Amino acid sequence: MILKKNNAKFITLEGIDGAGKSTHLNWLAERLRSQGKNVLVTREPGGTPLGEALRELLLHQAMNLETEALLMFAARREHLDKVIIPALREGTWVISDRFTDASFAYQGGGRGLDESKLKILEQWVQQDLQPDLTLLFDVTLEVSRQRLSANASLDRFEQEKQDFFQRVREAYLKRAAQFPERIRVIDSGRTLNEIQVDLEDIVSSI
Ligand code: TYD
Repeated sequence: MILKKNNAKFITLEGIDGAGKSTHLNWLAERLRSQGKNVLVTREPGGTPLGEALRELLLHQAMNLETEALLMFAARREHLDKVIIPALREGTWVISDRFTDASFAYQGGGRGLDESKLKILEQWVQQDLQPDLTLLFDVTLEVSRQRLSANASLDRFEQEKQDFFQRVREAYLKRAAQFPERIRVIDSGRTLNEIQVDLEDIVSSI
């Protein structure tokens, strides 16, 4: 267990591509800052110079499924070591655009990598460190597709077919059912205002 100064929290945002999490991420960071908290916003894969270089490869270079999972966790190890853990130790709240649930959803659910392998990597890379709160922005595939098609250049994941995203979505919902204390599912097919009312509730409860 790492010592978090001033009760700082580690919050992660998840969802299939096109679920709209980036919009909510900025809102959430501003909301917490307005309460006087120091907030660091970061992302995965990425968040460090090495992690961002790995992100470039992961999003654009074809590779073996296990290589993909190993590189996601290699980037995560660096991210934890250089950014996330030091920030929490100094009392800064950390909001990460994706974390390990994405590996279970995309490499596990989407690509079909054995969950037991992901669990080994998870244990190796983060030991008992888990997010304090995970917001899972959930939308139907139809909504996700509409939002993605507005975006001209799609990366290696965004180019995947419907059934891939269906499996990713199901894997995310399965994680949420497994960890109901940590993962809050947010129906993101609704209007921005409706979603923010929910987020406001969640923020005030932490
Ligand atoms: P994303 O976070 O959606 O960034 P952007 O909004 O800029 O497109 O892109 C990251 C992609 O990486 C996303 O498609 C999911 C994928 N990913 C994994 O497959 N496994 C992981 O462990 C992580 C963190 C991300």
